[in-house]
Amino acid sequence: MTMKQGKVDALLGIVFGDEGKGKVVDYFTPRYDVVARFAGGPNAGHTIIFEGKKFVLRSIPSGIFDEGKVNIIGNGCVIAPDLFMAEAQELETAGYTLTNRLHISRRAHLILPTHRVLDRAYEAAKGKNKVGTTGKGIGPTYSDKAARVGLRVGDILENFEEKYQTLKARHEQILRDLHFTDYDIADEEKKWLEGIEYMKKFPLTDTEFEINRALEQGKNVLAEGAQGSLLDIDHGTYPYVSSSSTTAGGVCTGLGVAPNRIGRIFGIFKAYSTRVGGGPFVVELFDETGDTIRHIGNEYGAVTGRNRRCGWLDLVALKYAIMINGVTDLVMMKSDVLDDFETIKVCTAYTKDGVTVTDMPYDTEGWQPVWEDVPGWHTPLSELRNEKDFPKKFADYIAYIERATGTPISIVSVSPDREATIIR
Ligand code: GDP
Ligand code: IMO
Ligand code: MG
Repeated sequence: MTMKQGKVDALLGIVFGDEGKGKVVDYFTPRYDVVARFAGGPNAGHTIIFEGKKFVLRSIPSGIFDEGKVNIIGNGCVIAPDLFMAEAQELETAGYTLTNRLHISRRAHLILPTHRVLDRAYEAAKGKNKVGTTGKGIGPTYSDKAARVGLRVGDILENFEEKYQTLKARHEQILRDLHFTDYDIADEEKKWLEGIEYMKKFPLTDTEFEINRALEQGKNVLAEGAQGSLLDIDHGTYPYVSSSSTTAGGVCTGLGVAPNRIGRIFGIFKAYSTRVGGGPFVVELFDETGDTIRHIGNEYGAVTGRNRRCGWLDLVALKYAIMINGVTDLVMMKSDVLDDFETIKVCTAYTKDGVTVTDMPYDTEGWQPVWEDVPGWHTPLSELRNEKDFPKKFADYIAYIERATGTPISIVSVSPDREATIIR
């Protein structure tokens, strides 16, 4: 008898990030054997709140709080040894043992201190049109990967010092060419080299084999997305994007699993929209309503503390992301943030110069939203734990989005807490 093979389900942010991925991955972890990050690095900030404690994870998968599960940082990720060490030590201090259940791909790329300087230098050179990066060296690290000069985790184990000095010298040359010389990485570099030593405590392995073997044994894997589909290097609002494949295709390349291993694709979004950093944001509200959403939703960056830009739900973007990712299930977060609104607006189309579109345009700059009004529910949602207790108008809002997108909303979240996750 052959054993039934396991599947890789994916949980993907399908807007501009910060949808609540950390919370849902943590909630889902008991159903899976392995949780794996496949893209991004410490630009991510995934918040998990339970039993009155709050953790913000950047590189470590959000499955780490379930002691029985293996967590993997996959080959598609980039990792900063100093930040990784700080993050891991914080968890160790909180009582979680990590070393034998957090595995790092040898193919993941290392973020050097000079990558972070380059990130700043490239941003400075952009003048007005800054991407508004997190400053974590993400773009320069993925650029070196594509340029075939990057350092990988596996390099730590052999002739590391020489390889490090070579890449650092290359970066210093670029910085001189850019006349960006007013930086000092001495302290940072010391921590970073400590981080390199610290990483050796963890299994630095060929995680693609690990994952595929687990699948052959009938185990199930949850791929934890980072960022969001509209920040994807190919499908996002280029050039105002991150530098990795944050969409479903990235699960395959970022973990080394074949497309036919993928099971369900959970597309996570908020009941409204946010964006942090630069770039076009069609549904952005510049008025008091935007400020109210930011205030109630506590929309300040988990990593950088920056104000998140706020707006109403964008169906054009949502439908596009559902298409690109093959979303099977939607997950709607932060519904409670809209509790007090008389009327809620939803963007159903974009318009510019007399042209109206419902397909995501090539360039989203300069488009205006076409709004449709939906009645608010005026009832506090955050204590609810069962769908049958939903106020009618909230149930109507869910049904409206399902109809418009042709995709079921399988999970609804009504407060930051782990328990406030309602499966439908
Ligand atoms: P991620 O990057 O996708 O993991 O999301 P972030 O952690 O950056 O941002 C999501 C924020 O929303 C965090 O502060 C969460 O604690 C919070 N959050 C998650 N779900 C809910 C919810 O249903 N209601 C409210 N009010 N907050 C939530
Ligand atoms: P999580 O996983 C929200 C944004 C930055 C910037 C752009 C490029 O927490 O949802 P980068 O540093 O990646 O080169 O920045 O992408 N960005 C995010 N926005 N959530 C994130 O991650 C993000 N990661 C990057 O603000 O606009
Ligand atoms: Mg975040």
